[in-house]
Amino acid sequence: MTSNYGLHLPHQFTLVMIDLKYGLEGDNVDISVEFCGMRFRSPVFSASGPPGWNGKSLRKAAESGAGAVITKTMLLEEFRIPHCGRVWEYEPVEGIKLPLHGLEGYSELSVEQWLDKELEEAAGGGAPVIASVRGYYPELDKTARIVKMLSESPYVSMIELNVSCPIEIEEGEVLANIEQDPSALEKVTRVAKEASSVPVMVKLGLECNRAMAAKAIERGGGDAISLINNPWSILPPDVETGEMQCPSPGGLCGPALRNLALAAMVEVVRSTHLPVVGIGGVLNWQHAMQFILLGASAVQSCTGVILRGYRFFEETNRGIQDYLKRKGYENINSLRGKTLRERIISFNQQAARPRCVARIRGDNCSGCGACLDTCFYGAIDLKDGVASVNEDLCSGCRVCVITCPMSAISFEQV
Ligand SMILES: Cc1cc2nc3c(=O)[nH]c(=O)nc-3n(C[C@H](O)[C@H](O)[C@H](O)COP(=O)(O)O)c2cc1C
Ligand code: SF4
Ligand code: SF4
Repeated sequence: MTSNYGLHLPHQFTLVMIDLKYGLEGDNVDISVEFCGMRFRSPVFSASGPPGWNGKSLRKAAESGAGAVITKTMLLEEFRIPHCGRVWEYEPVEGIKLPLHGLEGYSELSVEQWLDKELEEAAGGGAPVIASVRGYYPELDKTARIVKMLSESPYVSMIELNVSCPIEIEEGEVLANIEQDPSALEKVTRVAKEASSVPVMVKLGLECNRAMAAKAIERGGGDAISLINNPWSILPPDVETGEMQCPSPGGLCGPALRNLALAAMVEVVRSTHLPVVGIGGVLNWQHAMQFILLGASAVQSCTGVILRGYRFFEETNRGIQDYLKRKGYENINSLRGKTLRERIISFNQQAARPRCVARIRGDNCSGCGACLDTCFYGAIDLKDGVASVNEDLCSGCRVCVITCPMSAISFEQV
């Protein structure tokens, strides 16, 4: 089978097309997306990480509706991962513990194991398999070797070049994080592209100048960009005992990343014509749509699957489908980047917008005085036990709206 990209497509791709016909398009709403000459039945992919540690797990993700499944990052050398905890949580929110800190590094399965059995098993799930590989070796022929080995597998539809893994295996020693260096990025992308017979997507993190990195990947011939990888983080110590819940620094993941990931993605979308896949804190269909409205061609999730299991894909697909139906869209294409094009403005444009002031809804005010303490412009007084704003002093900062426990303050254009 040949795609309009001029590539051989592995046999599982035929299954994807069949699914489209009888599955997600059934209600006249098509949530498939196309880029790099390929069609994916859903814009929600399974990100590299624990949910894709071997072939069977990737197969489950695919069977649950993932648009594509991405392997754990492979490397040529043996890699030992901790077996004393690799995912740690933050304080519970509404009773749910949120994973926040991951330290897993690379795949503990060798490239040979993936090629022998795991990739075939993964492809059996019916979604394109994206092989994530360590993108950088000081000897670039090693990058070429690992990319060539995997792209020649009939079960691999795309390579994800991981050039942003933050894991320090010893203090100050990272294996393959070169995203800060545009010329290295360009070189490594070119080497991978020359070695690969399938499209190459390059995965960035937060540590680079995104516009320069995107241009470098474009010059190197990359086909797509995914971001963000985990930023390097540390779980804070318990102040009473000095103990660390997880004593090793690792990667921040989950909801804490979402706004950072959206901003990073917007920079890349604006700097390149390449398709961009958004990653970071996608926990439900609303989050997936937020990335798409800001320009993502697709999204990946790791924490969403860690929190909800593989049903995450089915639920997220269904949510997107219902949303499109409710809004009267037949497919996702016209929504991609819509908010970015129509709504995002610059700092200067924001500064030029009409002035707003705080106004008190007297009936709601309990007279607690909290807003008096946090109005740094001295614009609020209590009169007869009710807050009152002096509009001449109000600077339009909006802090009091956040501070008020009674939602008694509105913010209105003058
Ligand atoms: C435990 C763990 C292991 C991960 N392993 C990989 C990996 O092998 N390769 C990779 O590119 N990203 C890896 N990631 C990063 C995720 O793919 C993703 O970029 C990041 O977690 C942000 O997405 P999320 O908020 O959906 O988790 C890992 C993340 C976690 C939490
Ligand atoms: S908007 Fe800012 S300046 Fe105005 S009353 Fe509220 S806190 Fe004070
Ligand atoms: S914080 Fe809200 S409730 Fe409290 S005094 Fe100000 S307006 Fe009233």
